[in-house]
Amino acid sequence: MTLFSARFFPTLLDAVTPASWSWLPPQYSTYAAGIDWLFWFIMWVSLFFFVLIVVLMVYFTIKYRRRDESDPPGHGATHNGPLELAWSVIPMVLALMMFWWGLDEWVAMATPPPDAYQVEVTAAQWSWSFAYPNGGVSNELHCWVGKPVRLLMRSDDVLHALFIPVFRTKMDIVPDRWSEAWFTPTADSVGEHRLFCAEYCGQSHYDMKTSVVVHATQEDFQTWVDNSLVMPPGTPLAVWGQSLYESRGCKGCHTLTEQRGQGPGWLETSKLLATKGKRQFEAGAEREVNVAYLQESIKEPKKEVVKSFRGVMPTPRRFSDQDIEAVIEFIKSLAPEEKKP
Ligand code: CUA
Repeated sequence: MTLFSARFFPTLLDAVTPASWSWLPPQYSTYAAGIDWLFWFIMWVSLFFFVLIVVLMVYFTIKYRRRDESDPPGHGATHNGPLELAWSVIPMVLALMMFWWGLDEWVAMATPPPDAYQVEVTAAQWSWSFAYPNGGVSNELHCWVGKPVRLLMRSDDVLHALFIPVFRTKMDIVPDRWSEAWFTPTADSVGEHRLFCAEYCGQSHYDMKTSVVVHATQEDFQTWVDNSLVMPPGTPLAVWGQSLYESRGCKGCHTLTEQRGQGPGWLETSKLLATKGKRQFEAGAEREVNVAYLQESIKEPKKEVVKSFRGVMPTPRRFSDQDIEAVIEFIKSLAPEEKKP
């Protein structure tokens, strides 16, 4: 803790900026309050000088205006030592406070605690994937109260930025290098919060959004891990396929109805699979829809792009052969049963 630290002024700033006026989101990470104090400090200092300067400018313009043609030009100011010192030293002290305070918060944000739970984040056009230490992957970020989470992040393609407003966590993700961020969820943060991309990254940038889910306890988090990240023993493949459809981002583009999404609907795919139907590709070729075709198009989505769609699907990460089999079983289960004659 330093002299100019955020924690030094809270009561003063709290008095001028009660939480009820604030349009900022709730403070759900341990460092959020410090960042907000800095924000409000800079805000109020800027507002004070803005008003002071504009009011004086208008006042002097009126007071010292030229009143008529005979009014001679003034001498102009030479200099005023004490005034010049004051307008140099006061802003310097304020700017140094902002620097010191900002540095203090930045160092805190750049230093994850050694016991942090590490999640590997991959940003791609246009999806998020979060890989946990047990090898499981999800497209939502899960964590629990009080446990620091360290995000080790990289991009598959272009610049992205991870932004979680309630945690005040924001960090660019640059291709070909790792970037890092961390946060500790506070006790009142249990629930689901917005996480999105804050760097324009192409046509569907607006759609690059998901959730952070804060569990109340490590046990709750572990229950989610056991049920969602690895296939529980004895689960029917089609059921596991459905949970992958929901947890791994397939549902963002592939509908289960006749409605058209960003990618081919799975109901139609299922009907083609059941009837050995053919599918036309953008390149002009066509191919029978069978298990081999589905396996290949999951592993290499950009190889054969279905006619009238854009080849935008990212290659799924950490999809085991069993996962692929499960997804195909789920697709198979969608077509209505053949009507008996
Ligand atoms: Cu990724 Cu915008």
